[in-house]
Amino acid sequence: MKTLSYLVIVSLSLGFSINSQAASIYAGQSKAAAICAQCHGIRSPSAEAPFPPLAGRDEEYLESALKQYRDKTRISEIMNNIAGSLSDRDINNIASYYSRLKP
Ligand code: HEC
Repeated sequence: MKTLSYLVIVSLSLGFSINSQAASIYAGQSKAAAICAQCHGIRSPSAEAPFPPLAGRDEEYLESALKQYRDKTRISEIMNNIAGSLSDRDINNIASYYSRLKP
């Protein structure tokens, strides 16, 4: 039953953002901090970890790149796995966050 009440709480808090159509840069920011920032350094990606920077990139480009990774029409073992767990809403939020971030 613990799991059930956890699910209820999670879906209640998710309901908040589902009700608004606009992408939430805040939700995007927390996903980015939790997942993406491990590899995509915001400022100076170290030479040993050459991940493409995301800050300040075109929002539509980021969205379509993530959808391509999710559909596996763009192949990257790492990104296919990561994007596979993102919903459309996650992708909108994340693209909205990174595109507004100063490079
Ligand atoms: C484990 C490391 C890792 C994590 C975590 C990670 N990425 Fe990536 N990402 C990569 C690598 C490596 C590439 C380059 C892949 C390629 O060659 O297509 C990449 C490429 C990308 C690209 C394409 C950039 C371009 O210039 O075309 C986007 C967009 C992207 N990642 C977004 C994200 C987002 C959003 C997250 C978090 C949800 C994330 N990544 C998490 C490693 C990672």
